[in-house]
Amino acid sequence: MKILALSDIHLDYIRLRNGLNGEVIVRFLTKVRDKILSFDPDVFIFAGDISRKIEDIKIFFEVLKDLKFYKMYVPGNHDIWIEDGLNSFEKYKYILEKISKDNNFHYLPSFPLIINNIGFVGSIGWYDYSLGSDKFSTEEYDKGEYGNLKWREIYWKLIIFKDNTGKILSNKEICKRMQEELEEQINDIKDKVDVIVAVIHTLPFEDLVYIKNFFSAYLGSKHLGEIILKNKKIKYLICGHEHNPLILSKDGINIYRCPFGYLKDLKDWEEYILRGIKFFEIIK
Ligand SMILES: [Fe+2]
Repeated sequence: MKILALSDIHLDYIRLRNGLNGEVIVRFLTKVRDKILSFDPDVFIFAGDISRKIEDIKIFFEVLKDLKFYKMYVPGNHDIWIEDGLNSFEKYKYILEKISKDNNFHYLPSFPLIINNIGFVGSIGWYDYSLGSDKFSTEEYDKGEYGNLKWREIYWKLIIFKDNTGKILSNKEICKRMQEELEEQINDIKDKVDVIVAVIHTLPFEDLVYIKNFFSAYLGSKHLGEIILKNKKIKYLICGHEHNPLILSKDGINIYRCPFGYLKDLKDWEEYILRGIKFFEIIK
């Protein structure tokens, strides 16, 4: 089974930096679509961060919806920034699921997928500061600010994860919930498959973090990694969030970080996609 993975295309940044309208974005995405097609994959996985705007997310899926292979999606943190009265939880649980479904993408956070004895599980992941530096306190991380340092989605309160009971969850609580959902998915399929591919937007291992500082606290959680390591059938991990592409092998897991990244100039799109996109085959 040939898998193609990409993340972090950040359409809103491309628009802002280049002053683009929807039509230009469609033309850009059509080139991305042709590039994806050229790999001739069996499965295409997008591992989060299309845009903070639902409008862009819809355009992204509409351009890719007719591709004839399996297509899966896990959102990134930017995809669930609050927007027009919608909170992050509503976007994660309902809105993004519906847009995916309407456009022939499987929304992995809702339920896992099995194709030919290969299982796919997925979650946005989240951050609980366990990958950050000990120099800063939970309170400072919760504020998203230390001196001049700011993690803007928290500092600007762009994430409001209000669950069904109306409770607003802290980052640690969001992360815990994502860990539980991921573990549930793994338990659901582990006896029905030979191999599991885990797709998580954020980083689940310390080995994927270059420097521990204020910002690394927001890259992911080592507790997500503990869940992955518990099940030996998980042989592949796809992630994004941090914009340095990477291939790494750890404890029998092949890790692919596949970000497109913040594109400054539209003419460089091909260089960015070839740097980020990851293509591998699972041979049984
Ligand atoms: Fe991200």
